[in-house]
Amino acid sequence: MMSMKLIGSLSCCIWLVMAIATVAQTSDDSNAPVLDTSGQALQVGVEYYIKPAITDNGGRFTLINRNDSCPLYVGQENVSGPEGYPVKFAPFVEGETVVREARDQKITFSAFTICAQSTAWKLGETDEVTQRRLIVTGEDQNQGIAGPARNYFRVNKQAAPDGVYNLEWCPTELCPTCRFICGSAGALVENGKRLIALDGSVLPVVFERA
Ligand SMILES: *[C@@H]1O[C@H](CO)[C@@H](O)[C@H](O)[C@H]1NC(C)=O
Ligand SMILES: *[C@@H]1O[C@H](CO)[C@@H](O)[C@H](O)[C@H]1NC(C)=O
Repeated sequence: MMSMKLIGSLSCCIWLVMAIATVAQTSDDSNAPVLDTSGQALQVGVEYYIKPAITDNGGRFTLINRNDSCPLYVGQENVSGPEGYPVKFAPFVEGETVVREARDQKITFSAFTICAQSTAWKLGETDEVTQRRLIVTGEDQNQGIAGPARNYFRVNKQAAPDGVYNLEWCPTELCPTCRFICGSAGALVENGKRLIALDGSVLPVVFERA
């Protein structure tokens, strides 16, 4: 009788340990790597151009001088071509060597600019006309949100076709208890300039190794 009870409680605990291990794995590295235009996993610290998956949606991602002042904004070239700046990804989780779907990443343009500040993407102010949230460049100085949450974006796979993604601001890996108003990125044309903003049409993108 005693030994039966013991086995019973043991098997319960083994099951619990297995359940915990499964959960830990799910939240660790089970997310698929993001793929570039040649089907290779995106590598951390390597340069990639981000460009629209469909033609006639502007060109590569670049830095936009929105209003003759700093900071520069995240936007697109007007037309597809060789212009634009590549970006590098830095995952929130330390030790990662590839960029995974739906995980928090810092995204930084490889560019030197006249603005003496970082070229990391940062959730910016809300545009008064459209009420869409713009994406600027710079380091997050913890403006009201836990940690540098404004600097973290994620790459989500579109249902179809393969290799096409959306960019989202929703840094729940950085702060699991925060209630973010998440948003996906699309184009916002202002005075002929293509800015990238959340809360509107979503731009499907692909990643091309630089
Ligand atoms: C650009 O700056 C000027 C002067 O500060 C301001 O009147 C104008 O509204 C700004 N435009 C945009 C798009 O921010
Ligand atoms: C796109 O065109 C607009 C209007 O001509 C111009 O102001 C802007 O600088 C152009 N964008 C880029 C990235 O060259």
